[in-house]
Amino acid sequence: MSTNQLDKKSQAWSALFSEPMSDLVKRYTASVFFDKRLWRADIQGSLAHAEMLNAQGLISAEDLASIQKGMAQITSEIEAGQFEWKLDLEDVHLNIEARLTTLVGDAGKRLHTGRSRNDQVATDVRLWLRGEVDELGVLLTELQKALVDVAEQNADTILPGFTHLQVAQPVAFGHHLLAYVEMFARDAERLVDLRKRINRLPLGSAALAGTSYPLDRERVARTLGFEAVSQNSLDAVSDRDFAIEFTSAAALLMVHISRLSEELILWMSQSFGFIDLADRFCTGSSIMPQKKNPDVPELARGKTGRVVGHLMGLITLMKGQPLAYNKDNQEDKEPLFDTVDTLKDTLRIFAEMAAGITVKPEAMERAAKKGYATATDLADYLVKKGLPFRDAHEVVAHAVKDAIAAGVDLSELSLDQLKTYNPAIEQDVFEVLSLRGSLNARNLLGGTAPAQVRAQVARHRVRLG
Ligand code: ARG
Repeated sequence: MSTNQLDKKSQAWSALFSEPMSDLVKRYTASVFFDKRLWRADIQGSLAHAEMLNAQGLISAEDLASIQKGMAQITSEIEAGQFEWKLDLEDVHLNIEARLTTLVGDAGKRLHTGRSRNDQVATDVRLWLRGEVDELGVLLTELQKALVDVAEQNADTILPGFTHLQVAQPVAFGHHLLAYVEMFARDAERLVDLRKRINRLPLGSAALAGTSYPLDRERVARTLGFEAVSQNSLDAVSDRDFAIEFTSAAALLMVHISRLSEELILWMSQSFGFIDLADRFCTGSSIMPQKKNPDVPELARGKTGRVVGHLMGLITLMKGQPLAYNKDNQEDKEPLFDTVDTLKDTLRIFAEMAAGITVKPEAMERAAKKGYATATDLADYLVKKGLPFRDAHEVVAHAVKDAIAAGVDLSELSLDQLKTYNPAIEQDVFEVLSLRGSLNARNLLGGTAPAQVRAQVARHRVRLG
C-alpha cells in the first residue's frame, strides 16, 4: 500500500472488492459517529501496543517515536474539535489509524502489527468503561452522603411506615432514607466487583486465534493498568459479559432510583404532603396555574425503563452468536454509552435534589396517628404481660375495631375501656401506644429507634469517608 492508500481507498480491505459500498450500506455498517467517543481509549491502547512492539524488536525506536508524535497531534486535533471523522473510514479505529498514517507514513502502517480491530475494540471498550465505573462509584458515594445527611437530621422524625401502602408501624424518616443508602451501597459494591472482570486485557488475541508475533501481553496489561490478561483468544474477542454485567448492575441501580422516585412523587402529592422538592427540580403546567410537578423523579422513573431496555438489548445481542467476533458486537456501544450517560446525570441530580428536600414532620406524624400504627405495640405489651402472641393479636384486633367505630386512636381509649380487653393492661400502656414510644422500643440492630438510626449514620459516615 502506498502511504495514503487506507485513506484514499477508504477501506482497509479494498483490494479484494470489485464494487463500492452503497451509501446506505456504508451508513448502516459504520459506527464512527458513535464510537468516536472511544478515541482516548483507542489512542491509549495503540500507544501501549506500539511501545510493546518496539520493546519486542518488532518495530524500530524511530517508528515508535513517530507513532507517539502522530498520536499526540491527533489528540490535540480531536480535543480542539478539528479532527475530521470520516464515515468512509467506518469506525474510530480506522479513522485514527488513517490519520496517523497520513501524518507519519509507514510507521503508522506498522502499528497494526499483531493486532486486529477485534481485540482492539474489546480493549477500548474495557478501558473506557473502567474509567466510567470509577466515576460512577464517586457519584454513588456523593448520593449516599447526601441521603445520610438528611437521615441524620431526621433520626427523630416520625413517618408512617407502610406495608401494602397501608399504615403499618411508625418509622423514623431517617431510617426510611437509610434503606435507600443500603441499596446504593450494594450498587457500589457490585460496581467494584464487576470492575475486576472489565479489567482484563484482550489485546494480543488478534482477530480470534492469537498471533504469530512474540507479543508481550503482560507488558501491555501493566502499561494500561489491567489486572490480568485474557486466557483464551476466542473468548477474549467475543466476550461482552462485562458489558452485560455492568448494564445489569446499572438497571438495578436505576430500579432503586425508581423506587425512591415513586416515594418522592407520592410524598409530594397533596394526599400525602410529607415533603416538598425544591422548585428547581419541578415544573409547572401550561394550563393549570396551581401545579408544581415532580418532573425530575418522574423522569428518573421513566429512564429506568430505558436502562432496563439496554440490558435486554445487550443480553439478546449475545444469545445467538457463534464464536468468535461478529459484527453484531458493534451494537454493544450505544446501549452502553446511553446507560452510562443516564446513570451519571441521574446520580448527580439526585444528590442535589436529596440535599434540598423540605421535610414536613407534622404531616408525617398526623398520617402515622391515623392508621393505628401502634397496634402491634399493644400486642407486644400484652405478650410481655404473659399472653401468647396469637391471643394478644386477637385482643388488639377487637380494640382497634372498637376504636375505629368510635373514631378515636388506641391511645385515646380510656384505661378502663382498655382493661375490658385484658385486665393486665395498666397505666404504662399509654407510653407504649404513643408513636414515639413505639419508635424508641425498636432499639435493636437494624431497627428504627432514633438511637439506631444515629448509629447507622455514624457507620455510613466511616464507610463513605
Ligand atoms: N467497529 C467494530 C466494533 O465495534 C470494530 C471491530 C470490527 N471488526 C471487524 N472485523 N469488522 O465491533
